[in-house]
Amino acid sequence: MDKTLRIAPSILSADFARLGEEVHALEAGGADLVHVDVMDNHYVPNLTIGPMVCRAIRPHVTIPIDVHLMVEPVDALAQEFAKAGADLITFHPEASRHVDRTLQAIRDAGCRAGLVLNPATPVGWLDHVMGRLDMVLLMSVNPGFGGQGFIDTALPKLREVRRRIDAHVAAGGQPIWLEIDGGVKVDNIGTIAAAGADTFVAGSAVFGAPDPDGGYRGVIERLRGAAARGKGW
Ligand code: DX5
Ligand code: ZN
Repeated sequence: MDKTLRIAPSILSADFARLGEEVHALEAGGADLVHVDVMDNHYVPNLTIGPMVCRAIRPHVTIPIDVHLMVEPVDALAQEFAKAGADLITFHPEASRHVDRTLQAIRDAGCRAGLVLNPATPVGWLDHVMGRLDMVLLMSVNPGFGGQGFIDTALPKLREVRRRIDAHVAAGGQPIWLEIDGGVKVDNIGTIAAAGADTFVAGSAVFGAPDPDGGYRGVIERLRGAAARGKGW
């Protein structure tokens, strides 16, 4: 069994005036991915950052940049983020007119691709595209803001998607990461890991608990340790 756990701090809660230093500190602290929340004030009621910022932080880290698009439409921006150095690009399927085509276009641009399901979005969106997915991202808050509380219905949904992924892989399919996003903290990440997630976005939990020297090693280690214990590892 693959015992990899990935911690993906979301820069939504970082100090935007010092983003280069912040992402560098994440990597120095042991983060596995940098999670970039892209909001367009249309698909979600908030506005964050575009491809220029992705391009600006790219030289400050060697770990993959995990771009979470909360935008509608998806296709043109996905291509811009691919050019700006994104490694993974996920989008919300109901925001794309042609989901299969969008997934393929992201992969053709050299990135890994994934779908994001909101708390009320059915897992059936995955049915016919499992072979094109590198990641499934389940939202455990409604998208748009950091610092919200974890919605518990994400737990049975994680178990359901974990079952689907394991069955897909057992039948010879490619590996698919299962990421969770929203309200992940040191005190609930074990339960979330036990439900099947292997990749954990955390924004306020990471940036709200810096080390005395301003780094993030301590909180990233606490998150990883609690997740591993939740898995029984
Ligand atoms: C919400 C974003 C999340 C969010 C996570 O729309 O996708 O990545 O910033 O923040 P926390 O960890 O604070 O819930
Ligand atoms: Zn996100």
